[in-house]
Amino acid sequence: MTYLPEGYRDVDAAADFEKLKTCLAVIDRLPDFQAYKHASYDALNLTPRGKVADVACGLGFDLPRLMEIVPQGSVTGFDLSNAFLSFATDHASEALSGNAASINVRHSDIHNLDCEANVFDAARIDRSLQHVADPARAIAEMTRIVRPGGIVCAAEPDWRTYVIGSDLPDISEKITSEFAKTIRNPHLGRSLVDLLGAELALTHHSVHPLLLRLLPDAEIIFDLKNTVARSVEAGFVSTAEGIAFEENLEERHASGRFFAHLTVHLVAGQKQ
Ligand SMILES: C[S@@+](CC[C@H](N)C(=O)[O-])C[C@H]1O[C@@H](n2cnc3c(N)ncnc32)[C@H](O)[C@@H]1O
Repeated sequence: MTYLPEGYRDVDAAADFEKLKTCLAVIDRLPDFQAYKHASYDALNLTPRGKVADVACGLGFDLPRLMEIVPQGSVTGFDLSNAFLSFATDHASEALSGNAASINVRHSDIHNLDCEANVFDAARIDRSLQHVADPARAIAEMTRIVRPGGIVCAAEPDWRTYVIGSDLPDISEKITSEFAKTIRNPHLGRSLVDLLGAELALTHHSVHPLLLRLLPDAEIIFDLKNTVARSVEAGFVSTAEGIAFEENLEERHASGRFFAHLTVHLVAGQKQ
């Protein structure tokens, strides 16, 4: 079984592709995620003829939305997963009613992007540096493919701010820590100003709260049942505590008191 935070490191090798796909689809329809995504498009400073890259584009949900901002330009999605890129191509065509000729996808490892230097007006990355082996190298690559004066923009969570509302706060903290520690770069959100600031002149920094109020969404996005099972297996919580924690979440959901919370940092900079 694929554990979500590990699965995104190499999607095509993951056992449970549908699970990784479903999580991104659920995320994409949530208003707080849409809010920071749209703030990231604004930070790219694009003109209608702009050429923009979405690096680690996943299922490509951002590609048609970027195309609407650059109707006379072009959009290129890069990703390590051929399966995700295949979905992204179909999705772009469907979303733009077949007028997706200016959207391209390219199979590429972020540490070594298959692209010449100084090609794009802007490049963005969204919740993906958290999963890569060398985020500094990834940002250097994004900077390389952007022209001087162009913008690089990154949006990444800070998993130290991950909270699940619970009447059993000590257990809740152990469960959220178990998930966070499996993310390759769990504190990347707060490091973004330093990472982008080392390559670029910073132009934007904002912090965006993500509030989930439905337990079924949180179960998918945070792989909750698996995380409880792993915490029990590792001995951080007892079997009885795991059951009590899950029952409490159900009760809170039934009475409208369920919430989970996380913050995302959005940082952009200009190539000199
Ligand atoms: C959490 S998903 C985010 C996808 C998309 N940006 C979104 O907002 O839905 C992480 C993405 O990073 C990609 N990825 C992980 N490691 C990568 C690498 N080394 N090079 C390129 N893409 C990578 C995965 O294939 C996946 O599509």
